[in-house]
Amino acid sequence: MSTVNLIVNGKPVSADIQPRTHLADFLRETQNLTGTHIGCEHGVCGACTLLVDGVPTRSCITFAVACQQAEVTTIEGLDDDEIARELRAAFSAEHGLQCGYCTPGMIVSARDVVLRLDAPSEHDIRVAMSGNLCRCTGYVGITRAIQRVIEARRARGIAAVPNGNRTSLGPSGSGHAVPVAATATARAAVPAATNKPAAAKEAAAAASAAPRKDANWKPQTNFTQSFTVSHPADVVWDFFGNIPEVASCLPGASLAGDPVDGHVEGQIKVKVGPISAEFQGVADVARDEATRTGTIDGAGKDKRSNSATRGLIGYAVKPGDNPDQTRVDVNIGFTLTGMLAQFSRSGLVEDVAGRLIGAFVQNLEAKLSHQASGGSGAAPVVTELDAGSLVFSVIISRFKMLWAKITGRA
Ligand code: FES
Ligand code: FES
Repeated sequence: MSTVNLIVNGKPVSADIQPRTHLADFLRETQNLTGTHIGCEHGVCGACTLLVDGVPTRSCITFAVACQQAEVTTIEGLDDDEIARELRAAFSAEHGLQCGYCTPGMIVSARDVVLRLDAPSEHDIRVAMSGNLCRCTGYVGITRAIQRVIEARRARGIAAVPNGNRTSLGPSGSGHAVPVAATATARAAVPAATNKPAAAKEAAAAASAAPRKDANWKPQTNFTQSFTVSHPADVVWDFFGNIPEVASCLPGASLAGDPVDGHVEGQIKVKVGPISAEFQGVADVARDEATRTGTIDGAGKDKRSNSATRGLIGYAVKPGDNPDQTRVDVNIGFTLTGMLAQFSRSGLVEDVAGRLIGAFVQNLEAKLSHQASGGSGAAPVVTELDAGSLVFSVIISRFKMLWAKITGRA
């Protein structure tokens, strides 16, 4: 993790983030500034445009850590900006927006055009705005709106500001950026590891162990879920002390050997649509008898997708509403990096985890009932889950919720 310090809309903000976090995600997910829209995430559509030190910047291709100490202005920070206010009114008057998805980025770029170009032709405006794509309303209204504001500015005798106050050319970003220690370390490690296979192996092993030693690690995503099991709390608590049995309740999970002093190695297979991942990793399991709480602190890597995860699961076993029931509160914190990280952006992971927990509970119930009945052999359990089908069912259930909201039906 890296600490990033920025001035966002005039206020100092600081947060611990992954170095790979782009500015748009940082603003939307840690600052709740959702006016910055994300469209293509390739620097093409301009929906994510905002100002970094006064210069229009694609926040989807700008690392937040590369902007250390910079002044970042989002569309929310332009509420009282005179030019932005005029542009908003002109966009309305000239029908320069329809769905509005592109509009925050359009306003930020248009503001720069109004500020910078003295008497642009329609063609000049179109060229200047060519980095902002609108998917639904077309560009006639947008161009007219910008022309309208420039004409009003000229009518008031206000000249354009040459270069829009830019003092230097080059990639936009912070002029105050400082090297990020983690990035520098990673860069330094690459050539050595590339030239020496043995050293590379050692570096890989060290990298695999590194997250576990990082006492300052904080999960990027946190959520809590609870479930009820139809067995007494004593039984459930004892069962949770048997690590191999607990692992066998989690679809796709298997252990590489017996746990030693609460330390265990193993793997978990997940299928997300066309991507299959097999995370190999280690975990430390701790329990506190007095409070009936426990933690599972794990880290793993999937070589094929080059993704890594670190997670901390905390649980508390409590009596349920009646003596034959147990309530289990689970807090899950995790960080996912690499190709699969794209699935950790929204509440999708939370939904998928909820369904995985559902399968876990189903298996847990089956095993405890099997145990209580004194049955022989193995209890029937769900052994595999395809998160692709889960994702599909999540989308369907969300669509149903949205439809119910629109139609006012429960
Ligand atoms: S989302 Fe950044 S340019 Fe498209
Ligand atoms: S108004 Fe819909 S994308 Fe531009």
